[in-house]
Amino acid sequence: MTTEFDLGTLLAERGAERYELHGKYLNHQLPRMLHTIGFDKFYDRGEGAHFWDADGNDYLDMLAGFGVMGLGRHHPVVRKALHDVLDAQLADLTRFDCQPLPGLLAEKLLAHSPHLDRVFFGNSGTEAVETALKFARYATGRPRVLYCDHAFHGLTTGSLSVNGESGFRDGFAPLLPDTPVPLGDLDALAAELAKGDVAALIVEPIQGKGVHEAPPGYLRAAQELLHRHKALLVVDEVQTGLGRTGDFYAYQHEDGVEPDLVCVAKALSGGYVPVGATLGKDWIFKKVYSSMDRVLVHSASFGSNAQAMAAGLAVLAVMENEQIVANARLTGELLKSRLAALTDTYELLADVRGRGLMIGIEFGRPRSLKLRSRWTMLQAARKGLFAQMVVVPLLQRHRILTQVSGDHLEVIKLIPPLVIGEAEVDRFVEAFTAVMDEAHSGGGLMWDFGRTLVKQAVANR
Ligand SMILES: Cc1ncc(COP(=O)(O)O)c(C=O)c1O
Repeated sequence: MTTEFDLGTLLAERGAERYELHGKYLNHQLPRMLHTIGFDKFYDRGEGAHFWDADGNDYLDMLAGFGVMGLGRHHPVVRKALHDVLDAQLADLTRFDCQPLPGLLAEKLLAHSPHLDRVFFGNSGTEAVETALKFARYATGRPRVLYCDHAFHGLTTGSLSVNGESGFRDGFAPLLPDTPVPLGDLDALAAELAKGDVAALIVEPIQGKGVHEAPPGYLRAAQELLHRHKALLVVDEVQTGLGRTGDFYAYQHEDGVEPDLVCVAKALSGGYVPVGATLGKDWIFKKVYSSMDRVLVHSASFGSNAQAMAAGLAVLAVMENEQIVANARLTGELLKSRLAALTDTYELLADVRGRGLMIGIEFGRPRSLKLRSRWTMLQAARKGLFAQMVVVPLLQRHRILTQVSGDHLEVIKLIPPLVIGEAEVDRFVEAFTAVMDEAHSGGGLMWDFGRTLVKQAVANR
C-alpha cells in the first residue's frame, strides 16, 4: 500500500461521496436544501463564466461564487501567477521581514483611490470589515458604529453587529454597540451623530441584499455630516468593488466621495485564495500603529501571504489589460436594459435595478385576478418563494445559476463574472423570458413546484 498523497486518485475514488460527506461532517442543511430544490448536481470543471457537470452539460454562472469569480474561473494569467509563485519557493510568512508582493499590491490598489494611503491585508470580506470597525473605533476613540437597514457586511461577531437583518443576528447577542439607520436617510444619521459617541457609518454603495442603491448624493452628504461630527465614513466594497458596478469602486460613481476606510475582498484574488484588504487614510493607520510596541496590535497570521498577493497583482493587471471595468459597465447596461424592457410584458416583473453587472430583478403583486390568487398563496406561506420558483427552472431547464438575493425577498440578484459578453446576455434573457412565459401562463410544472414550496414553508414553521 502506498502512503503517497495523490489528489487526482482521491477525487476519482471518493468524489462521488461529496453530498454524503457534507451531510455527515459539515453543515448538514446544505445538501438537504440542495436536494429539495434539485440543485444537487455534480459539477466537474469550470472556465470563465461557465462550468460543466459530469455529463458534459454546460452551465452559465450568473453568481460568480457570491462574487469572488470576478474574472470567471481559471483565468490563465491568474493561474500562471499562482503557479509561478509556488515555483518561486519564496521565504514567505517569516513574519520578521518585509516581502515585496504586499507592498506592490497595496501600491496598485491605492492607485485606484488616490485619497487613501495605506492597506491592511487580511483573509476575507468579514475580516476587512472587522479591521475597519476596529480602526474606526480606535482612531476616533468612540464606541458606536452606525449601519444601514438590510446591510450585509459579513458574519463574524463584529460585522454581525452591523448586519441589518434580524435573521442573521438573532441568538448571537450581545453584539457591539451599534444602531441602524435607513439607507439614504440623512436626518436619521444626523440625529445619531448628535449624540457624540459615533465612530463611523459603514455602508455598501449598492446593498447586496435586495440590490438597493444609495440614493444620488447620499454618500457625499453623509460624508460631510460624519466629518462635521468627527466620525468616519467606511465604505464596504467587498461585493461592489473591483469593477463590478462599472466603476473600479462603486463609491466613485459620484464625484466628491472620499471614504476614510474602504473594504475589499472577494474578487481580489480571482477566486483562488481567500483575501481581504482594508484601505485607509494615513492618520488612521498612524494612530492604530502609534508606537513600535503596537506593531502587532492588529495582524493576521495568513495576512499578505504570497499566493493571495500574487493572485491580486495578476487580477489587477488583467482588469487593466482586458478593460474589465468598461466591460462590466457596457455589458451590464445591455443586460439591464433588455431585462427592464420586459417589465411591460410581464405583470409579475416589478423592477429591474442595479449598476454594471450587479443587477436586481424584483417580482411583485400581479394585476390580473388569475395570477393574483397564486401570488397571494405564495406570499401567505413565505415571502421570497416566487423568486425561488424562478431560480429553480433557470438552473433545471436552462442551466443558468442565479440566487434569490436574501431571505424573504422577491428579488433575484445577478452578479456574473465581469468577463461575460453579448452571448451570455442573450442566453440569460432568452431563458428568463421562457421562465416568465411559463409563470404567466399560471399553470405547468412551475406552479406545481410553487405548491411544493408552500407545503415545505408551512411545514417548517
Ligand atoms: C458587502 C459585503 N461585505 C462583507 C462580506 C463578507 O465577506 P466574506 O464572506 O468574505 O467574509 C460580504 C459577503 O457577501 C459582502 O457582500
